[in-house]
Amino acid sequence: MRQQIAAANWKMNLTYQQGEELLDKILKENISLGEHQQAVFAVPFPYLSMAHQKLSGKKNYATSAQNCYDQKAGAFTGEVSAEMLKSINIRYCVLGHSERREYFHESNQSLATRVKLCLDNGITPIFCCGETLSIREVGAQEGYVETQLMESLFHFSEEDIRKIVIAYEPIWAIGTGKTATVEQAQEMHAHIRAIIAKKYDQNAADSISILYGGSVKANNAKELFSSPDVDGGLVGGASLVAADFIAIIRALK
Ligand code: PGA
Repeated sequence: MRQQIAAANWKMNLTYQQGEELLDKILKENISLGEHQQAVFAVPFPYLSMAHQKLSGKKNYATSAQNCYDQKAGAFTGEVSAEMLKSINIRYCVLGHSERREYFHESNQSLATRVKLCLDNGITPIFCCGETLSIREVGAQEGYVETQLMESLFHFSEEDIRKIVIAYEPIWAIGTGKTATVEQAQEMHAHIRAIIAKKYDQNAADSISILYGGSVKANNAKELFSSPDVDGGLVGGASLVAADFIAIIRALK
């Protein structure tokens, strides 16, 4: 079975102490995860070591960064490199979140470089894609997402593409309380898998985890994750509340 992943995206929320408390509460539940299940916590940079330390002894729990820069090293004040993440044993990095694309102007080309730098450093990218409401309204979402994948990912070898996790996050569903319907999520996930199969092969397409993101909550996670092509979720708001994220981890297939 493909890896099923509940990924928390804390964004720029919580103090260090609140973050510690949240992780402690979640870990106290002792949710035992199957071989094919992962709980991943994408925390702010200053909390990475703390989260890594708390999660490191726990089977199938992992820490993620929320971004890294598209240069190896150098005079880029305020930026963090993939190599730095590797040096503190971080296993995942979210890339191309729609907030990064919108507010920090990250392009598909820059993201391609970030993905490469993560892969070079043994870090699994959680690559985000997804359309705006206006694109969905004219029915152009499939082509839009396809271009994002083509320009950022589809030049990688099959071996490399298999190492990437994809998160489909329709922008109109992020932080709005407006979730994609199970049918809309399944339809896009199946489409993403089909284009990977076309570009690579069915085996590669079947092995890649595709997460859904956008107002995943404790009360809709089970239904969303039950779709055959939805392999878990990337969760913002609901990942900040212990009981909610616990329920979301438990909702994994
Ligand atoms: P949300 O955010 O769950 O608050 O909609 C999801 C995300 O941006 O990853």
